Amino acid sequence: MDLTPTLIFVTRPPGPPIFLRIALAAAAATFLRAQPLPEGPRLRDLADRRGLLIGTALGDGFSPAGMGAAVYASYAGVAAREFNFFTAENAHKFGRIHPTATSYQFAAADLYDSFARSAGAGFHGHAFVWYKTTSTPAFVVETTTREGLLAVLRDHISAVGARYGPGTLVWDVVNEALQSSVASAPEDWRDALRPADTDHWRATIGTDYIELAFRHAAEVRAANQQNHRLIYNDFTNEGMNNKSLAQYLMARDFLDRGVPLEGLGFQMHVNGTPDYAGIRANFKRLSDLGLDLYITEFDTISGSSDAELDRQAAIFHGTLDVALRNPHFRAFQTWGFTDRTSWLYTWTGNPLGADVRPLPFTAGFEAKPAYYAIQDALAYEFREPVLTQGDFEGDISAWFLLGPPSPSPTVTPLHPHGGARACSVPPRASPATGVAQDVLAALLADQGGAGRYELSGWFRVPSGPAAVRLRVRLTDSTGAIRDFPVEGVAGASWQRIQGWLNLAWSRTLVSAVLIADTPGSGVAFLLDDVALGDGNVLANSNAEKPGGDWSVLGAGNLSFETSSSRRHYGARGLRVVNRTAAWNGPAQSVRPGLLASGQGVYELSGYLRSDAGGETGKLTVRLGDASGYRHFSVTRTLRATAWTRLSGTVELAWPDDSPPSSVHVYAETSTGTSALGLDDVVLRKISDFPVAPFTAWQALHFDVSQRADPSISAPGAFPADDGVANLVKYALGLRPAEPAASELLPALELDASGHLRLEFRRNSSAAVQSILESSPDLIAWSPLAITPELRPDPDSLHEWVSFPLPSSPDRAFYRIRFTLP
Ligand code: XIL
Repeated sequence: MDLTPTLIFVTRPPGPPIFLRIALAAAAATFLRAQPLPEGPRLRDLADRRGLLIGTALGDGFSPAGMGAAVYASYAGVAAREFNFFTAENAHKFGRIHPTATSYQFAAADLYDSFARSAGAGFHGHAFVWYKTTSTPAFVVETTTREGLLAVLRDHISAVGARYGPGTLVWDVVNEALQSSVASAPEDWRDALRPADTDHWRATIGTDYIELAFRHAAEVRAANQQNHRLIYNDFTNEGMNNKSLAQYLMARDFLDRGVPLEGLGFQMHVNGTPDYAGIRANFKRLSDLGLDLYITEFDTISGSSDAELDRQAAIFHGTLDVALRNPHFRAFQTWGFTDRTSWLYTWTGNPLGADVRPLPFTAGFEAKPAYYAIQDALAYEFREPVLTQGDFEGDISAWFLLGPPSPSPTVTPLHPHGGARACSVPPRASPATGVAQDVLAALLADQGGAGRYELSGWFRVPSGPAAVRLRVRLTDSTGAIRDFPVEGVAGASWQRIQGWLNLAWSRTLVSAVLIADTPGSGVAFLLDDVALGDGNVLANSNAEKPGGDWSVLGAGNLSFETSSSRRHYGARGLRVVNRTAAWNGPAQSVRPGLLASGQGVYELSGYLRSDAGGETGKLTVRLGDASGYRHFSVTRTLRATAWTRLSGTVELAWPDDSPPSSVHVYAETSTGTSALGLDDVVLRKISDFPVAPFTAWQALHFDVSQRADPSISAPGAFPADDGVANLVKYALGLRPAEPAASELLPALELDASGHLRLEFRRNSSAAVQSILESSPDLIAWSPLAITPELRPDPDSLHEWVSFPLPSSPDRAFYRIRFTLP
C-alpha cells in the first residue's frame, strides 16, 4: 500500500504539500479502497514523463446515448484519466466511414477524434486499407479494374486522411496484408502476402497496392500540412518468425525505394507467453532501419483466479519491459481497457464474465494486476549501471582522454577513493579537457534510452577548492549537441558530486559521452567511482544474481527460486523458509548506496509473497547507529500465495555529522513462520530535502504496552525487532524549510488507551509546540491536549513529551501538529 495519499487526502492544507508522510493502519487502507482511483500514479503521467504514448481503442457507440449515461461517464472518465492516445475500434474502418462510393459517414468517427482532443490526447487512425469484408464494402468489391480501384483508394485516403488534423499522430495505412501465418521463410516478401482470392486489393491492384497506399497517404499529408506517422499494422509480427521476416524484407525494400513507411504496428493479441527474446531481436532489426515501433491492439485473456490475473499481469509487464528498452518504441495501446467489453468475447465465442478478461480494468472499472504491471513497467527506470567501468581498477580501456594529449592523466595508487587506484588528471591548459567514456551503446541497447538517470562521482582537488563537473554530452543526427551537467566544488578531501539528469533527445542519437572535467582551466584533480544509473541503492534488486548481496535477517534459509510462481518478473525470486520471528526475512545491506545518494525522500517498493496469505507484509529500511535502530516501512496485507506489491515513500534523514553505521533493506511478515518470497525491490531517492534553516529529526515512540487488544493490525502490532517489546518507533523527517512549517501532520491510529511519547532531538534552538488532535473519521479533527512550548536542551539535544490518550472503545485517529515559529 502506498500510504502517502492517505495523509495528503486527509490533511492537505490549502498551501504547499504536506511533506510528513507516515504509513499507518489497516483502517486507512479500507478508507482508500473505497476510492475508485487506483493506487500510484496515472498511466498517462508516467508515459508523458518518458515521452511515450499509452493508448486504448474506444469501442462502438462511444456516447452517452450509445452506452447509457452512467456507463459512459465512467468509461470516458477512466479513459481520459489513464490514456494519452486513442483509436476508434471500428469507426474509421473503410466500410463504416465510406460505405458507398459517394458517401462518407463522419459523424460517428469524429466523436473519437474530438474526444482525444478534449482529453489532451493523441489520436490514432485505424485503418485506410484492410482486406476484411468490413473494409471492402460492396462498391469496393464491385470495382474490378486496377485503375478503378486505385482511384477509389486515392479518393478514400484523400477524404479520410485530410479530415483529422493536429493531434492525429499515427495512421495505419495498411492493415494485415501478410498471410495470417507464413509457412516458410520467404525470399521475396510478396510471396508472403495474402493470396489474391482472399484480398480484393491485391487481386485487383496487384502487390504494389501497399506502397501505392503509403505514397498517396504521404502526398495527402503533405498537401494538408499534417504530421502523423504512416505505419503498417499486423498480428503475430512482433517476434522472430517467417511472417516477421517477410515484414522486415518489405520494410527494407520500401525504405530502399523511398516508400514512405515510417513505423510498424504490432497488434499483439497475445496468446500464451510472448517470445520476449524474439520481440527484442525483431524490434531491434526494425528500429535499426530507423522505423518507429507501436504496439497497437494489445490484449491477452485470463481467468479470474489470482494466479491467472498475475499471469496476465506478467505478460503485460514482460512485453512493456522489452519494448521500453528499444529507443524507437513509441506507443503501447490496448484493444479496449475494461473487461466490460472486448472483441475477444465474440472472437472466442465466450460471454462476458467467462474466462476471457483480456484487459487491465475489470468490468467495474477497477484496476487489475495488469494495470499495476503497466504502471510498474512505465515507472521503472532501468537499473543496470550505464558505465561499463566507473572506477580505475583493472582494465581501464573504456576511459579515454578528452582534449590535448599532453599532459596525460595517470592512474595512481596514491589516495584512491575506493579500491586500489584513482585517476589523476594534471592541470590542463584549457577547460573542457579531462577523461571520458562512450556510453551510447549502453544508453540505447541495454538501458532503453531516454529517462531519468543519476550521475555521480568522487573528486579531490589537491589545491582546492575548485569547481569540478561531470557531464553527459549527447549529439544527435543533425549535429546538435546537448550537455547534461552535474557540477560541484571539490577540495582536499574526497567529495562526491551528484545530480539527476533527465536525458532526452528527439532525433536519432549518434553519440553519448560521459565527461569528467573542470569548468576552469589549470585545475588538477583526482577522480574515482563514477556512476551513471537509475539510483536504486540495491545492488541486486531483483535477485537475478544468486548469492552475494542477499542474506537473511535472523533465522531462516534463503534460496534463489526459478519456478514461475516463486519469481516475480525475471528469472529468479528470493525465498526464505524456516523463519521463527516476524522480523526474519531476506535482507540486503545497502549502506554504501544510501550514503552515496544521501538524505532525502525515497521510493521504497517491492513484491512479497507469503505462503500463508492474509497476514501483514512489511518492507523496511533499517538505519542503525550507536543509539539503536530506526525503521522506515511500508506495509500491506498479503494475498495468499500470490505476489503483492508494497510501495510507499520513506523519508531517510540522519544528523549530518553522524551517518548511520548500518543500513539494511529487509522484508518480513507478521506471522513470522510462513515462507516468504521477495522480488523486484527498489529503494531510490525521489528528492532531496529542501535546505532547511531548522533541521531536526524526531523519533516518535508510541507506547502500546497497555493496549487492551493485542490483535490490532499494522504497524502498531508489529513487535519491534530491537528487543523492546511493543515499542514501535516512527521516525518523522521534519523538513521545516517549507512555508508550511507550522503544519506538520502525521496521523496515528490507536484503538486502545495508552501513552503517546514523543522524543525530540534537534540541533536548533527553535521553539516547537505540539498539539494533539483526534478524529473519528480522519475528516473532522478536534484538539485533545496542548503541551507547553518545548524548550531545547543544549546539552543532550533530547526531550520527551508524553500525551495521555483517553481510552476509546472504538477506533480513533490521532495526529500531532508541530508548530514552529
Ligand atoms: C475488431 C473489432 O474489435 C471488432 O469490434 C470488429 O467486429 C472486428 O474488428 N485486428 C484489427 C482490428 O486490426 O481492427 C480488429 O478489431 C481486431 C483484430
